[in-house]
Parts: sequence; C-alpha cells; structure tokens
Amino acid sequence: MANDRGSGDEIGDGGAAELLARHRRVLPSWQLLYYERPIELVRGEGTRVWDGAGREYLDFFGGIVTTISGHLMRRMVDALTEQIHRGINHTSTLYLIRPQVELAERLTSLAPIDGATKAFFVSSGTEAIETALLLATSWRRSNEIVALRNSYHGRSFGAVGITGNKSWAATSFTPLKVSHAIEPYCYRCPLKLSYPQCGIACAEDLRNVIETTTTGRPAAMIAEPIQGVGGFVTPPQEYFQIVKGILDEFGIPFVADEVQTGFGRTGEAFWGIESYGVRPDAIVCAKGLGNGLAIGAVVGREEMVESIEANSISTFGGNPLATTGALANLDFIRDRDLQQNAYKVGSFLMRGLKDLEERFEIVGEVRGKGLMVGIEIVADGASKRPDPAAAARVMEGARERGLLVGKGGLYGNVLRLSPPLIVTEDDAARAVETLDAAIAGAAGS
Ligand SMILES: Cc1ncc(COP(=O)(O)O)c(C=O)c1O
Repeated sequence: MANDRGSGDEIGDGGAAELLARHRRVLPSWQLLYYERPIELVRGEGTRVWDGAGREYLDFFGGIVTTISGHLMRRMVDALTEQIHRGINHTSTLYLIRPQVELAERLTSLAPIDGATKAFFVSSGTEAIETALLLATSWRRSNEIVALRNSYHGRSFGAVGITGNKSWAATSFTPLKVSHAIEPYCYRCPLKLSYPQCGIACAEDLRNVIETTTTGRPAAMIAEPIQGVGGFVTPPQEYFQIVKGILDEFGIPFVADEVQTGFGRTGEAFWGIESYGVRPDAIVCAKGLGNGLAIGAVVGREEMVESIEANSISTFGGNPLATTGALANLDFIRDRDLQQNAYKVGSFLMRGLKDLEERFEIVGEVRGKGLMVGIEIVADGASKRPDPAAAARVMEGARERGLLVGKGGLYGNVLRLSPPLIVTEDDAARAVETLDAAIAGAAGS
C-alpha cells in the first residue's frame, strides 16, 4: 500500500492545491472535503485507490459506504461497456427497459417483505427516501412520520425533516409532522441506563412517543438498522423486535433505510434489518446497489407502492446503464459470496480493533457488524467526552500512512470503516496496524 513514493512534500500534490482553490471558488463551502490538504482520487482497483500524485491508499471508506464490490470491478465494467456500445444509455421510463424489469424482479425476490412487492427506481438515496415518504403518506393518508434521533436520511426537505442530527438538518421546513424516538445508542444511552439491565427502555419508549406525539395513526416509522452518518450506532439485538411489536400493536408500517446496511455489508444477512429478525413493509436502498453508479430504489408492499393515484416518473431512475451495472454488481456479490466475506473479514477486523479499544484510552468504543465498523474517539474512557479533534488527527495520520477511513457521529468523533466487501484479512490487518500507529500518534499529541 504504502506511500512508497515518500511524503506529500517530496512528490508534490498532483495538482490538488490548485484544484482545491478552483473548487472553493465555484462549489459551496458546505459541500465538505476531507483532510487539511484534500486529495483527488484519480484511479482505483479493488480495495486500492491512487491520488493525483501517484500515492496509493487502502480504501476503507468506499466513497461513503458505496463501492461495495471494489473499484474497477471487471464484470460491471464489461456489462456497462457493452450497454454503452449498444447506444442506449437513456430511453426514459416511457419505454420498456429490460434490465430495469430484471432488477425489480431481483430486488423484490431478495426483499424480506411479506406478500406481493413492487420496486421503483430513482437516482439517489435521498430520492428513494422521498419516494418511500410519498408512498407511506399516500397509503396511510397521514403526514406523520416516526423517525429516530441521531438518524440521517438525506438532503431534501422530506429527508432532512426526518433526519435526527442537527449537523445535517440545514432547514426546519418540512412537509411532514415528525416525531423523533430515542436512538438505541448504548455507549451514550440517552436514558443513562446500561444494557441489558435497561430492558431496552429506548425501544419501549416508542409506545409513549406514538401515544403522546401522534394521532396514533402515523404513516410509518423509518429507521436505519445501523445508524450510518450517526456513527455506526448499532442497536442491541432485541431492539427492532420490540419496536416492530409496538408498531404492530398500532398497525403502523415499518420502513427500513438500508442505504448503508444493504447487500451483505453487515455480514450476518443480506439486509441489515434481517439480522434483527424483523420483516419491514418497505426497504429503501441506494449506495451499494450500483457500486458507485447513481441508483436508488424503494421496494415495498404492493398496496403501499400502488397507493398513489397520480402519475409519477423519474426520468433517470432505473435507466438502462444504471440497472445493467446494478445487475452485474448483484451477480458479483452473490457469486463471490461477499456477505460471507464481510462476516469473516469483519470478525477479524473487529478483533483487531477491539484490541485497540483495550490499549488506547482515547478509543471509547469499537462497534458495528460485518464490514461496517465504527471507532468512537473520546478524551478518556471515564468521561467519554467526544474528541472530534483527536478523531481528525487519527484520520490525518491514517491518510499519511496510506489508509482512507471516514468520519461521522453526532459530534464528528467516530471513525467509520466500510471497505469494499472484497477486502482480505491481509488488508484488514494492514488497516488495524495503520490505525494503531495513527491512534498512538493522535493520543500522544
Ligand atoms: C441511511 C441513509 N439514507 C439516505 C441517504 C441519502 O443518500 P444520498 O446521499 O444518495 O442521497 C444516506 C446518505 O448517506 C444514508 O446514509
């Protein structure tokens, strides 16, 4: 991996400083960039990427939990090349699109939803969330949504409205009436309780949220099986079963936001929610579905999907190129059994990082499932005070040593590891070793 071409200063920056200046002139400042000296990634292969100066990095963030099958995945490149050469990248949904029908068949058969299901395609996670909100509110004739605190669901008015994290809530304008239930965040339990003596009180509180803040008939509850942007907050095993039981008492549909957790990422199951033994009424997905192509989807119970009465299209949603690429990606995930690899390498990675949790005072908690692992950085284990500055130092230190990781959490103090699911134990060992050095460096300064 390594930075075998020396430090940034010795080999130049590949034009990154000049590109950054141009970026700052014409793009918004709220479109965040990582690193004190942001980098441009110009090439990728498997789990490796290279910047403009030729430095190689082990990619442990996958473009925000998206490049699930790795860079330059041949099967997808070939399928896309063939489709492009057919000269049909776009026709609109006014015509039959064979790969779209095939992808809908695939997703509806994979979704752990009871009864007949249908799918609708869009171009991003946000649009998929908007679609789920439109469908649920139309179906139930209600504008009430229950979501979780510390959640992230996207950047449009509806998605920001249900998002429970002020760093990502650019506006309070929303078409919905939203109730935010307590998040299942054991390390920072909002109820100041300890698992398992708590009796999963955060889940039980949902009944009170429904009874006191809604008409009792909200359109749906929506939740991420593991909160992604929120810092890979991983609910206790009982959480979603209790939540689903309460929703069933009231007859409220449940929508799983699988934008980060889908397609085997969590190792235990194909969909994140399945490892909690719960069957939702709809699933929202994007990111890993296209391994980097712009595609999102909602798969839901037929009655829900068919509940809108007006026409509705997405010009780009489910276009021939995106759906061809997504099908090749799903084939690759299945044929290479990447879910099993996520479980195996994820367990190995978790063991290595748990060792860092024991050794370093600033590593408050290591958590997650499969290849979705968060490292919460704190001032010290006793106070658990979030330390975003130390987390930023670890990120910089990892980058200098040739490892890219992400960051998240309400306080910006959680490092996020979500490599492509093709990652090997050698890669994971290298990542742990690099983080060990970067954390030691950050803790000492
Ligand atoms: C759980 C979740 N839902 C929805 C979204 C929105 O997806 P997009 O950025 O593709 O619009 C994201 C993006 O990070 C997400 O993590």
